[in-house]
Amino acid sequence: MKTVNVGICGLGTVGSGTCNVLQRNQREVQASARCDVKIVHVGARRDNAACNLEGIQVSRDIFEVVKNPEVNIVVELIGGTTVAKDLILQAIELGKHVVTANKALIAEHGNEIFAAAEQRNVCVAFEGAVAGGIPIIKVLRESLAANRIQWLAGIINGTGNFILTEMAQKGRAFDEVLAQAQELGYAEADPTFDIEGIDAAHKLGILASIAFGMPLRFDRIYTEGISKIEPQDLAYAKELGYRIKHLGIARRSGDKVEMRVHPTLIPEKRLIAHVDGVMNAIMVMGDAVGSTLYSGPGAGSEPTASAVVADVIDIARELALDCTPSVPHLGFGADYVSPITIQTMDELETSYYLRMSAWDRPGVLSEITQILSKQGISIEALIQKEPAEDQDIVPVILLTNRAVEGKMMQAIQQIEALVSIAGQVVSIRLEHLD
Ligand code: HSE
Repeated sequence: MKTVNVGICGLGTVGSGTCNVLQRNQREVQASARCDVKIVHVGARRDNAACNLEGIQVSRDIFEVVKNPEVNIVVELIGGTTVAKDLILQAIELGKHVVTANKALIAEHGNEIFAAAEQRNVCVAFEGAVAGGIPIIKVLRESLAANRIQWLAGIINGTGNFILTEMAQKGRAFDEVLAQAQELGYAEADPTFDIEGIDAAHKLGILASIAFGMPLRFDRIYTEGISKIEPQDLAYAKELGYRIKHLGIARRSGDKVEMRVHPTLIPEKRLIAHVDGVMNAIMVMGDAVGSTLYSGPGAGSEPTASAVVADVIDIARELALDCTPSVPHLGFGADYVSPITIQTMDELETSYYLRMSAWDRPGVLSEITQILSKQGISIEALIQKEPAEDQDIVPVILLTNRAVEGKMMQAIQQIEALVSIAGQVVSIRLEHLD
């Protein structure tokens, strides 16, 4: 039986999980890869007590792993977009296949990396980069390959989902839950990536490219995080039959694609509304298959390792069969001009949840509804709460039908200018996902 040699760069949360899964499940890996898959070299600044590195060459300089002529597959798990990029490009240059879970790197520099990989005829696999253990890349590339994908919408940041769930279900404070997510190894090194939606945007960009067959366009993704979500909005949404989830949404209409990440009200009757904690879930709508849902752990050591090792196995299997693993889908040539354009947020059409504080006086509601109606926006539901004792201000909560975002923003400005409205209007987009 042949042996395929693996070099792992990085021994953090995912790196240690990858070592452990490859070693513990050696028999399963061998059966699936039809060859021995052996870790021969690990590069890490320090050892990790969670891993057994006996019999494995260990270097403090990760580039030693790339240069090792015995290594067939370089697994990059150091994260970041600078050293990791150099490492991967060097591995490609040396004709090595690469497996990475680095979503930021793929989202921001993937076009360059895939072009280099295509030139050298090597594979860069990245299943672990999106939604941890959920094999969504494979689903889009292979299982749903017969479909024209219409849209996808996903909870693709485990930390954000964990925070929103704990706030909604247990009334816990934002900062306290974030600290716990960091301790559990879910959060990014810079947790603002999780909270402000950047991590989700990285993942959405990757999914959209595969789903719609277009180069990566991270720079064109509208991104809004969860840091402004207030407990009262989670409660009002629930009262109206919705949940608030932080969603990444990509939709194709003809040759236009919209890509956006933001908190979203979704009907509680949808299964995805009940995907809580660190779990991720992605709905994919294909023209042939219809609506599908994929769910699983979106972060963590071994769930992500599960995806990384699956990529290693795929490449090892082809090497064992003497095939040349190729880069499917994302390798666009340097001269490729995509027919797809990215839609601006002003053009977006969706429904909205609006919350405002109104002075408790006659005629306030009619002023609000008149503004909305002049912009062609109709109201689907409205709640007006009683004022608290000794208070003259009441919360007014509205759900609208679908409206063009540009018009909605104008309406919000006009509502905020009313003397009968105190402070700013809170607006959260709403998707029915049907
Ligand atoms: N910080 C990421 C998350 C890790 O919370 O989803 C997995 O990509």
